Amino acid sequence: MRFVFFLLLFLVPSSAISIEENLTSLENLFIEKRCITCHVVGRGKFVGPDLYNALDKYSEEEILQWIKNPQSIYKKYSKMPINDGYPPMPYLNVDSFEAKRLLDYLKRTKDLVRKNSRVRISGTIKNFSDNKLLDSQEVQLEYVMADKVKNIKKQITNDGNFIFDNLIGNIAYRIKIFYDGIEYSTDKFYFLPREHNKSVDLTVYDSTQEIKNLKVNSSHLIISYDEDSESLVIAEIINVENQSRNIFIGSNNFTDKVRKINSYALFSGIENLDFPHRSKETFIVSMVNVIDTLPMPPGDRRIVLTYAKKLSLFSTTISKVFLNDISNLTIIVPENKLSFSISGLEYIKKEADIKELVDNQYSTYSISNITKGQEIKLTFTKYDLFFNTKTMIGIIFILFIVGIFLFKRFKET
Ligand code: HEC
Repeated sequence: MRFVFFLLLFLVPSSAISIEENLTSLENLFIEKRCITCHVVGRGKFVGPDLYNALDKYSEEEILQWIKNPQSIYKKYSKMPINDGYPPMPYLNVDSFEAKRLLDYLKRTKDLVRKNSRVRISGTIKNFSDNKLLDSQEVQLEYVMADKVKNIKKQITNDGNFIFDNLIGNIAYRIKIFYDGIEYSTDKFYFLPREHNKSVDLTVYDSTQEIKNLKVNSSHLIISYDEDSESLVIAEIINVENQSRNIFIGSNNFTDKVRKINSYALFSGIENLDFPHRSKETFIVSMVNVIDTLPMPPGDRRIVLTYAKKLSLFSTTISKVFLNDISNLTIIVPENKLSFSISGLEYIKKEADIKELVDNQYSTYSISNITKGQEIKLTFTKYDLFFNTKTMIGIIFILFIVGIFLFKRFKET
């Protein structure tokens, strides 16, 4: 008895933090570190083994090793994988403190879960366009394991509701519905060990092909100058809004395989075009424009393009003809590095009023109410033209040739 008492006293300081930490924040760590995508506790095997018995199989030190660095376990047992029929567990970048919290989580969860308990997914399908619940629609439940669909269940909505009950808890799920020619799908979702019910509400829309509801509210060109490559690096941000209550599916023919939602003009002769916020496959890219191919639900969408333009020795002009009306275009230029001018459109110039950019001496140019078909030309000149080494060598070389020429003439006379 005395020994136990002593041991408890000894343990209290190190576990005091974890006892106080609430279970939800530990659950969030279990999600954040992606354990949830491979493990359940008490509901059977998933991508990795059920962690219910892990505490009986390994010492706490070993569990921490599994979490922090699975390779060290593989080394220790000279075996990989440890459990037959599973892939090796990947390294997950968990630090020591987080690993302790996850161990704590496993210990506490074990006492809280009902073994092999089943789960339930219920929800509604609502049509945003008319604000009604959708009756008699087929809802599809996909069972997903490591990105493969393992099983599908279907159900017809009843007054817009669906319930999938008595489901296994050691798999990921996804809900899908096809409505008015468009597929809607949730992301994959998982059940936490303590969780038994999930409610999933999906919103769908009636479709429209009326392009007049699409408005480009604003567009930003954020320009910087990369001295090493002597190039402009431009980020273009386009804020477009679908002002209707329907999903815009493109005004092109339905028989076209790809939907063309809207096109946006590109400046001439740019390089390294990239889309940092979305996969390139969702755009059709040509020399003169990019076409967005993702159907557009009501509300705002932001399209971000980045590209570069190499500056030529003297001055460089890029131009484009707008394919949309644009309420407001703002151009941000580092004028301490480049001289800059706009032709084709009227603008208002301001010294940088952007807090984050003040230090770099940026100027902003705003242009209002651009209409489709108008052209803009931007001209850039490097300030260091007469001071950079290339031009200096060039000038010295020319002076040298001229000198020789004059010298010869002088000798002849
Ligand atoms: C990509 C999937 C994946 C992720 C993410 C993952 N694991 Fe694993 N885990 C596995 C697999 C697979 C094994 C079995 C490997 C083996 O036997 O060699 C395993 C084994 C384990 C074991 C030993 C289980 C046993 O019974 O032998 C523990 C403990 C463990 N994982 C905890 C975690 C924790 C905690 C996290 C989150 C930080 C996590 N795992 C994240 C796939 C994963």
